[in-house]
Amino acid sequence: MSTFQAPKGTYDLIPPRSATFLAVRDAISTPLRNSGYGYIETPGFENVELFSRGVGESTDIVTKEMYTLTTKGNDHLALRPEGTASVLRAALQANLHKQGNLPVKLWYSGSYYRYERAQAGRYRHFSQVGAEAIGAEDPALDAELIILADQAYRSLGLRNFRILLNSLGDKECRPVYREALQGFLRGLDLDEETLRRAEINPLRVLDDKRESVQKQLVGAPLLGDYLCDACKAYHEEVRALVTAAGVEFEDDGKLVRGLDYYTRTTFEFVHGGLGSQSAVGGGGRYDGLSEMIGGPALPSVGWALGVDRTVLALEAEGIELDLPAVTSVFAVAIGEEARRILFGKVTELRREGVSADFSFGGKGLKGAMKDANRSGARYRRWYWLGLNAGTLFGVGFCTWLMYQSLYEINSLCLWC
Ligand code: HAM
Repeated sequence: MSTFQAPKGTYDLIPPRSATFLAVRDAISTPLRNSGYGYIETPGFENVELFSRGVGESTDIVTKEMYTLTTKGNDHLALRPEGTASVLRAALQANLHKQGNLPVKLWYSGSYYRYERAQAGRYRHFSQVGAEAIGAEDPALDAELIILADQAYRSLGLRNFRILLNSLGDKECRPVYREALQGFLRGLDLDEETLRRAEINPLRVLDDKRESVQKQLVGAPLLGDYLCDACKAYHEEVRALVTAAGVEFEDDGKLVRGLDYYTRTTFEFVHGGLGSQSAVGGGGRYDGLSEMIGGPALPSVGWALGVDRTVLALEAEGIELDLPAVTSVFAVAIGEEARRILFGKVTELRREGVSADFSFGGKGLKGAMKDANRSGARYRRWYWLGLNAGTLFGVGFCTWLMYQSLYEINSLCLWC
C-alpha cells in the first residue's frame, strides 16, 4: 500500500522551513501585541450562516469555496474561510463591546480553509495572522493597522511589496455608485453568470480576473468619483496619517477585495515576486458587519496577512531570517554509564532554561557528531564515559565549539 499524501492544495510544514513560519507569525504579531491588541482564538468551524451573511452570498468564498458539512445533530457548519466574521461573533458573544473600552483590539493566528483551485501560493488550507479593531470609527485606527502591517513586513526584511489603498464608500454613497456601475455593466457583453452577479453585487464584477471582462471594464465608473463628503474626508485623513508615518501607498480606485463586508477604507499588500497570487495581506473597514450578523452598530477595521505567502515572499527576496538555533547545547554520550549521567545533565540544563538536546538511539561517535551538527547547536557537549575491559574510565566532559564545519574544533574542555 502506498503511503498517504497530504490532500490536494495542502502541504505539511516540516523543519527547517517550519521555523520560518513560526518566525513570520511572531514578526506579524509582535507589533500588534505592542500596540494594545489582545490575543483571541475562535473555533475552526462556525455556523455556515455566519459566513454567508457576513462574507456575502455573492462572493466566491461563499458560493464556491466553503467546506461545509452537516453534523449528525443537523447543524450546518463551515470550516472557517476567514477570521473576521468569527472574531466579531466571538466579541459580540462575550459582550466585549459592552465593557466601555471601545475599540476592542484583537489579534489572532490560525488555519483557514478555502476550496480554491490549487496553485503556487494558493492553497486549500492556509494560515493567517490577523487583527481586528472593533467598535470605533476613527481614521487613526485604519492608519494604525496599515502602519503596523508595514512595520511587520519591514521587520522581516521584506522590501518588494506595495500597499494599495481605496475607499469603498458607505451606505450613503455606495448605492448611488452601485446603480451607476450596474447601468454600465448592463451595456457590456458578459456571460449570464456575470450578469447575474452584476445584479446582486456589481462591485464583484470589478474583481473579475478574466481578461475578457477586464478589457470591457476600462471606462467603468470609479467609486472615488461617487464618494460622499464624509467618506472623502475620512479617506483623506487615513491617507494623511499613513503618509505622515512615512509609509508609502498607491491609490487604487479599482480595489474592491473579495469579501462583501467592506465599507470605506480597503487596502491590500501585494508582493512583486509572487506572480498571480501576489496579495500577501489585505483588509479594510467593515462598519456594517456587526449588524449583518445580528449585533449592534459597531464600526470596525482589520486585516489579515497570509503567512504562507509571506514566507514565499521572503524566499522570493532571498531573505533568510536570523533564526535562533533550536538548541544551544547538544550532548553526546559514549557508553551506557555516560548516557545516564549526561541525560541527567541535559535535564538539569533544561530546567535551568538552557535549550539542550541529546543524541538518542545509541549511535556511535560518527553518527552522534552528525546529529550534533544537524542540531545547529552552538555548543556541542560530549560526555565520554566508557567501559574498557570492565573498567570504568571517564574520558571527560567536553565542550566543543564548532562553528564552520563538523570537525573544526575551536575549544575543548575536559572534566573528569
Ligand atoms: P483575504 O484577502 O481573503 O482577507 O485574505 C487575507 C490574506 O490571506 C491574503 O492576502 C492571502 O495572503 C491569504 N490567503 C487568502 N486565501 C489564501 C489561499 N487560498 N492560499 C494562501 N493564502 C491565502 C481576509 O481573509 C479578511 N478576513 C481580512 C480582513 C480582516 N479584513 C478585515 N479584517
